[in-house]
Amino acid sequence: MEPDVVRIFDTTLRDGEQSPGATLTVEEKLEIARQLVRLGVDIIEAGFPIASPGDFEAVRRIAREIGPLGKDRPNGPPVIAGLARANKEDIDACWEAVREAPRPRIHVFLATSDIHLQYKLRMTREECLARIREMVAYARRFCEDVEFSPEDAGRTDRDFLMQALTVAVEAGATTLNIPDTVGYTTPEEFGSLFAEIRRRVPGVERVILSAHCHNDLGLATANTLAAIRNGARQVEVTVNGIGERAGNTALEEVVMALHTRRDLFGVRTYIDTTQIYRTSRLVSALTGIPVQPNKAIVGANAFAHEAGIHQDGMLKNPLTYEIMRPETVGVPESRLVLGKHSGRHAFRVRLEQMGYHLSPEAFEEAFRRFKALCDRKKYVTDFDLEALMADFTQSS
Ligand code: KIV
Ligand code: ZN
Repeated sequence: MEPDVVRIFDTTLRDGEQSPGATLTVEEKLEIARQLVRLGVDIIEAGFPIASPGDFEAVRRIAREIGPLGKDRPNGPPVIAGLARANKEDIDACWEAVREAPRPRIHVFLATSDIHLQYKLRMTREECLARIREMVAYARRFCEDVEFSPEDAGRTDRDFLMQALTVAVEAGATTLNIPDTVGYTTPEEFGSLFAEIRRRVPGVERVILSAHCHNDLGLATANTLAAIRNGARQVEVTVNGIGERAGNTALEEVVMALHTRRDLFGVRTYIDTTQIYRTSRLVSALTGIPVQPNKAIVGANAFAHEAGIHQDGMLKNPLTYEIMRPETVGVPESRLVLGKHSGRHAFRVRLEQMGYHLSPEAFEEAFRRFKALCDRKKYVTDFDLEALMADFTQSS
């Protein structure tokens, strides 16, 4: 295990697909999985094989067709994981689906919070511990790589969570994933939970600790970063942050936070960041879930500047208003958007790019008319500028 590497476990095809309306066909899942290999993710959670014959087939084909790809990547071919509840039928189906991958993983989960045990599973804590021991050991009979997740860990009693994780390690789990299933925790709490697990769970140094956050309070990325600061070396994420309810931690946000603030985190990933934007577009197109314009990293406005002061700074040196260059994430270039907040500098540059070179007086008049137009229109396009320029003498 390289201590400074954070593994990227992409669950776009499993938890992400649980977004209302995001259902993907087998072929669409294969296309996204192929792109995830190009992106450089370490683990692809391809689906929940017991959920439907279609999902079983998708996981089986991803294991068979995508699993062997990426042999020349620094992190080798991807691990292909399938999800299973803690029962034999789920684990059998999961193994059947992932077994053809060169690097298969079975991901077993069982809820541990009292609210889930009492109302959903109708199980006592003792029964829960026994089930974890039995089912993690059962999965290990098939596969060397077994991940265990105590669902709703974020609301689980801490002492009981330590017991559940200890049992999972004893039974052979190789990754312990800590889900904040309902996005309830805060960064301080979630970070300290990881520190406590590292102090209290015997044998934890032999396994990989993983964070799985949901975004109900908008804290998924912050919580995931707090987990990394406290020893998590796998993070479970989705492209564009899609997932149940308010979604999962967004892959692009965590990866670019680690990349941009390496000075702070001191860890790296195997992600080829230049593939981020392309992956985002593909997932949005195939799931039909649009990306909000102000979405960090991949939103349409993430590298767009409208205010005059910002545009002036950008034209002098882009680092004045951008902490990362758009090309780093595969966005072709920054955009200076012309609107009522824009200043003379950006207006002049755009006109010159379009081939208009005006005298000082004509420029002032054109700028006055441009501002008047901006008060009537939300966006001023190049077509609007062409129309505006029709009244001016031009030379190009
Ligand atoms: O959010 C969650 O608890 C999950 C588990 C199945 C890992 O998605
Ligand atoms: Zn989840």
